[in-house]
Amino acid sequence: FSKFVYYNDELFVESVPLKEIAEEFGTPCYVYSRSALTEAYKEFDAAFTNRDHLICFAVKANSNIAILNLFAQLGSGFDIVSGGELQRVIKAGGDPGKTVFSGVGKTLFEMRMALDANILCFNVESEIELISLNHIAKEMNKIAPVSLRVNPDVDAKTHPYISTGLKENKFGIPTSEAERIYHSAHLYSNIRFVGLDCHIGSQLTKLEPFMQASKKMLNLLKTLQAQNLEIDHLDLGGGLGIRYNDEILPSISDYVSALCTSTHQLKQRLLIEPGRSLVGNAGILLTRIEYLKHTPARNFAIVDAAMNDLMRPALYNAYHEILPVNKNSGEIKNYQIVGPVCETGDFLGHDRNLGLNNGDLLAIMSAGAYGMSMSSNYNSRPRAAEIMVDKNTSHIIRQRETIDQLFSNEHTLSY
Ligand code: LLP
Repeated sequence: FSKFVYYNDELFVESVPLKEIAEEFGTPCYVYSRSALTEAYKEFDAAFTNRDHLICFAVKANSNIAILNLFAQLGSGFDIVSGGELQRVIKAGGDPGKTVFSGVGKTLFEMRMALDANILCFNVESEIELISLNHIAKEMNKIAPVSLRVNPDVDAKTHPYISTGLKENKFGIPTSEAERIYHSAHLYSNIRFVGLDCHIGSQLTKLEPFMQASKKMLNLLKTLQAQNLEIDHLDLGGGLGIRYNDEILPSISDYVSALCTSTHQLKQRLLIEPGRSLVGNAGILLTRIEYLKHTPARNFAIVDAAMNDLMRPALYNAYHEILPVNKNSGEIKNYQIVGPVCETGDFLGHDRNLGLNNGDLLAIMSAGAYGMSMSSNYNSRPRAAEIMVDKNTSHIIRQRETIDQLFSNEHTLSY
């Protein structure tokens, strides 16, 4: 977490003490480092060297407008999975012409919206979806650019909830079927096949599954080319993991180099859709201890953030490192770090040896990806504020939600 470091036992983000952020904006809040975001993007970009490429940030990982705007300024494209995400990209100044649209359940309304915006490509996940898209494009007198998302049947060796490239998963089209569909291009008057796409899963810690998938995609591409079917790009999806605990991971540049090497014969443009690896370790969730509660069985640190703010521990039993903002405060004990939500699954960390006092601040690390974007209002908890730090300045990039906003769309019956 190179931008979150201790000076004299106090945790800083870039040049700002986290304590100052808590005092100014309150807790819980997400805190991002602008330079960590920029550096991660630049590492991806530089590793492609002179290869024709487009990095499409997976908006689902973190969809705050300021973060999308930062990536847009750096030249990034976007991978979206809904009309809402498309609107966010546009609002943030992103280029729809650099945007690909993934997902198994695009609605007709969303297809229209994306055709209107002239996106780069629809990553189509079934034949029935292709039929619908052709129909809508015809109605609008447009040609829809399409990649088929192939399911390469590769074991990503990650958590089963976030593995997507096995034949048992709902994603993509089996290779043989994809080949048949590319050949039936003449049936679709308003579709142009521009690419080939896959995405095998998330939080991958090894390069081998990526290599297996890219080999399969390359073979399919060669088969198509041999039959005179030319496309413009190969999209290899996202999925590179980050270090949460003690995982040993390939670096961003090793990963990109491996993709480039395995596809070196291609003249087509390479696309990737990284989410987590661009934002994950650029953000933390800052929270304050409400109460230390000692029972005969356990020591609990009850904090003001909860599963509604960061769902990953409750949903995947995910590990996030938890650091005290001020070191060496209390006697070291084994703590369960839990939130105020009324579920035993509401925890942020189990069995952490920390020295704590009531009122201390804690940093839940590696929370920049799938943190705020998966948050909810469960227990009628307003969603947290988001702050972006640039060197010695903190910018609020999302106000804390108010209680009024929580029920502003709700109505009682009129009798
Ligand atoms: N492209 C597609 C089509 C995807 O479905 C995903 C993620 C990505 C790209 C970006 O993958 P990444 O580079 O972030 O691994 N909520 C889970 C992760 C779900 C990932 C879903 N798809 C978590 O918190 O671990």
